[in-house]
Amino acid sequence: MRFAQRVVVITGGAKGIGAGCSNVFAQEGGLVAILDRDFDAAQATAQRLGDQHLAVRCDVADEKQIAASITAVIERFGQIDCLINNAGIHPPDTPLLKMPPEQALEVLRINFLSTYSMCYYALEHLKKTRGTIINVSSMTAALGQRNSTAYAASKGAQLSFTKSLALECADFGIRVNAILPSNVDTPLMRSWAASLQDPQAALERIAALQPIGRMADVEEMGRVCLFLATEDSSFITGQGLHVDGGASLDY
Ligand SMILES: NC(=O)c1ccc[n+]([C@@H]2O[C@H](COP(=O)([O-])OP(=O)(O)OC[C@H]3O[C@@H](n4cnc5c(N)ncnc54)[C@H](O)[C@@H]3O)[C@@H](O)[C@H]2O)c1
Repeated sequence: MRFAQRVVVITGGAKGIGAGCSNVFAQEGGLVAILDRDFDAAQATAQRLGDQHLAVRCDVADEKQIAASITAVIERFGQIDCLINNAGIHPPDTPLLKMPPEQALEVLRINFLSTYSMCYYALEHLKKTRGTIINVSSMTAALGQRNSTAYAASKGAQLSFTKSLALECADFGIRVNAILPSNVDTPLMRSWAASLQDPQAALERIAALQPIGRMADVEEMGRVCLFLATEDSSFITGQGLHVDGGASLDY
């Protein structure tokens, strides 16, 4: 029970990596607030975890919904101990000249500005608990990704934001870190594979990118987030932790 009676807010907590975080934090006694634009899925995940958890309809592309969601979490739980900025999208592989700036801005809005805005609205509450922030970035933040300039840039923005906010928040006792996953078996990964001619071959190729020979499962990401949210990581702040089965070593 490493998170007993503490409150975690997870954007995109209904499915994929976010659901992995929801599961792990709930197993460790946490009170989980799942913010997701797929409200049915958020409710289903919250109910599966137990009555004490909360599902909130929130599209993180919309600042007003973010502000209202933080208010809803405080009304229900009275505090926030950890914020996990996880919600994100990965557009299909697209070369720069095929993605007009407006579309790139939308990727930045969902993947990066949401992280900024969530921190903006949650920070006063995190100061009271001397809590933690965890941003789910990506290996592509450090290494880039072909035909994914907007996506990789949005993840890079999350990483440099993490470092800068960690500096700003140290005086408040708030630690800010990012995780940089390589390939995780999620609905996002499956729908990307399904868009290709041979989905099974694509998934096998992706699994082989990790020297340990497989993708991660979502709870492996949740357990790393739990580590970053607890005193076990009390001397770690401003870091982008590669959680990649060694993939970045052989990129
Ligand atoms: N899957 C991977 O291999 C991988 C690798 C590196 C980084 N990531 C990052 O991890 C995060 C989660 O990815 P995933 O693979 O679990 O995705 P996913 O699509 O499987 O799940 C994403 C969840 O976020 C929600 N969501 C999406 N857009 C939203 C919005 N605008 N507002 C609120 N909720 C929204 C979805 O409804 C869903 O519940 C993303 O930020 C992604 O960039 C994933």
